[in-house]
Amino acid sequence: MKKILTIGALALALFSLNSCSQKSEMDRFIDDLMGKMSVEEKIGQLNLHSMGFRSSAALTDDNATVKALKEGQMGALYGFGGSPETMRQLQDFALQGPHGIPLIFGMDVIHGFQTIFPVPLAISNTWNTDLVEKYARVAAKEATAGGINWVFSPMVDICHDARWGRIVEGAGEDPYLGGEMAKAMVYGYQGHDDVFDETEVLACVKHYALYGAAEAGRDYNTVNLGRQEILNNWMRPYADAAAAGAASYMSSFNEFEGIPVSANHYLLTELLRDTYGFDGFVVSDATAVQEMVAHGIGDLQEVSARALQAGLDMDMNSDGFVGTLKKSLDEGRVSIKDIDKACRRILEAKYKLGLFEDPYKYIKGERTDEIFSDENRALAREVAQESQVLLKNSGILPLSKDAKIALVGPFADNASDMSGAWAMSARASDNVTILQGIREALEGHKGTVSYAAGSKATAQPIGGGFGVGFTRNEGRQNANAKPQPTQAQMVAEAVAIARRSDVIVACVGEPNAMSGEGSSRADISIPEIQQEFIAALKDTGKPIVLVLTTGRPLTIVWEDENLDAILNTWALGTEAGHAIADVLFGDANPSGKLTTSFPREVGQLPLYYNHKNTGRPHPDYEPYRKFTSCYMDVINAPLYPFGYGLSYTTFEYSGLSLSSDSMPMDGKVTVSVNVKNTGKYDGKETVQLYIHDVVSTSTRPVKELRGFKKIFLKAGESQTVTFDLTAEDLKYYNHALEYVSEPGDFEIMVGTNSRDTETVLLSVK
Ligand code: NOJ
Repeated sequence: MKKILTIGALALALFSLNSCSQKSEMDRFIDDLMGKMSVEEKIGQLNLHSMGFRSSAALTDDNATVKALKEGQMGALYGFGGSPETMRQLQDFALQGPHGIPLIFGMDVIHGFQTIFPVPLAISNTWNTDLVEKYARVAAKEATAGGINWVFSPMVDICHDARWGRIVEGAGEDPYLGGEMAKAMVYGYQGHDDVFDETEVLACVKHYALYGAAEAGRDYNTVNLGRQEILNNWMRPYADAAAAGAASYMSSFNEFEGIPVSANHYLLTELLRDTYGFDGFVVSDATAVQEMVAHGIGDLQEVSARALQAGLDMDMNSDGFVGTLKKSLDEGRVSIKDIDKACRRILEAKYKLGLFEDPYKYIKGERTDEIFSDENRALAREVAQESQVLLKNSGILPLSKDAKIALVGPFADNASDMSGAWAMSARASDNVTILQGIREALEGHKGTVSYAAGSKATAQPIGGGFGVGFTRNEGRQNANAKPQPTQAQMVAEAVAIARRSDVIVACVGEPNAMSGEGSSRADISIPEIQQEFIAALKDTGKPIVLVLTTGRPLTIVWEDENLDAILNTWALGTEAGHAIADVLFGDANPSGKLTTSFPREVGQLPLYYNHKNTGRPHPDYEPYRKFTSCYMDVINAPLYPFGYGLSYTTFEYSGLSLSSDSMPMDGKVTVSVNVKNTGKYDGKETVQLYIHDVVSTSTRPVKELRGFKKIFLKAGESQTVTFDLTAEDLKYYNHALEYVSEPGDFEIMVGTNSRDTETVLLSVK
């Protein structure tokens, strides 16, 4: 449908930067459109379906999607791999509907479209919000060039439990850092204003809410948290994303307080809209409406009605809304007001995208050369450099380019597992492998690299999963493949190469399919078959650098105690091999810092730095003492704490001070600290600021992040880093759920990670 600009409307359009007049123009347009729509057509707007990758299925008149489109029974479609022609066809059908309302095209663009960036958990390790915004911008540019105008990202779920496979999709365990990352991604996707140009997409914040708090880390499991706890420690990223202007949210699979989220009025309306000020639309997660039947709160008609009334606007894949809401309306179980509210929110999103002006705005197919460009890949390499975390280094890294390197392990020359668990449209066969990266880095140098896979990733192949099934990959079983060597033969080959080398670089860890949705693990160690392989390498007596591929923190105490260096690379995407070689040889100095604690034992989970003290506190690094809060068989401390990560240089902190050691409630203090690069390499350091409310009316965590700054210092250089603090930064939700700052003493801590901090005392009056 083309919007006809009358003289009055034209005049208003001239003021389109003025959001008030733009809004009233939009309101008038939508009032007029909705005035003409039937109830069925309105309900049709609340329906979202997946096309999967079935873009080649014949779009003939008997195709169910085509029929639904022509009847105005579909508001949006998702699941495209970059096929604007198919999307154009589908849009044609939608425009043939009763009032020709254009479709939104969505997709799981999680960490890039075709240029794949590191998995989100890895990206959060950069602590670099400018870089995060830039990467999301590139993802949006590529996605829109491929016809997409709605991405199911950012995923901002806080997680304390590395057993949960979807920890890979978020920004870790801290609500403050999670909020900063969420804002940066929303800005990257949507820009900083209400206007969407043809390179900007609607963000969809997920999974709202608390999905990462699944009991025992088992996916989709029950969430058992109280309101005070969620407000203080879990909700901030969702709230911050709303403040940044996120256009849509996705309701999660889990329940909260006995009500599945998709029908939870407290979460969907009281918090999200009334408290956080969100005014876009909420879509359910895939089949989440229908799944409420299994949750046990009613049949499809009942759960659909409850969902709509709770504040859900769009139903993904359940056919609960299109299938039952008209009946519920006729029976008086929902009102036309409820339906209108949801329909309006979806039409508003279409209006803001500019789809009523030009339904083909995003599917012209004109900008496809912007996809997978050299420029985008260069940014992916930079992000991948900063995402890596050096966990241990006895001094063997960086490697000399004159060294004889044995490069071994199932991830050493493995393109597909560089993509990560959630890269639907990855050009996985174009991912740079670690072997390729090292070979390129050694060109023109005396050093050599010899390669052997050395081990299978897992004893049995892992089937399914988005990372395996949907990427063009080498992981699929090929009936005509040559017989494979046995594990013993593979290990023997790698050991022989290792013996002839100066250093072993062992690329081990988890394949893509071991993390992500539906991939929870009860044992989070490196798969046993690879542990045996590493032990065989250790027997050669050669120094070993472990290059870890993983979607979650793993239990690697043995590896920490026995190997010379550990570089955690997560899954770094398209440019993985280049970026890993950059760090291994010191062309890039590692600066990533963990945003999730690495447990020593799975039995420590859930594990997070911002825990409470208890009435019987036990110091993290001290051995067992009966009747204090600790374990008999493992210390409380993680193996590597939140905020931790090494560099090739060293940073010395000194002179932590406050501009004043007391602060009135309406005042401000400045925290200052000197940071000096005392090593031989230039490097980046993330300076972290934590607070501890010493006495408060409700108990507070031992430490909470409230600021960070990433700085660059040349070797020998120093800088004074400052943070301004006001009472706003010290606020929390008290027992009455009021957001308050309370007078009293606060410990202000600054350091290089959550464990190694200096403290000063601030008294708030
Ligand atoms: C289910 C996942 O939970 C969600 O993250 C994703 O966006 C949807 N499926 C759509 O693919």
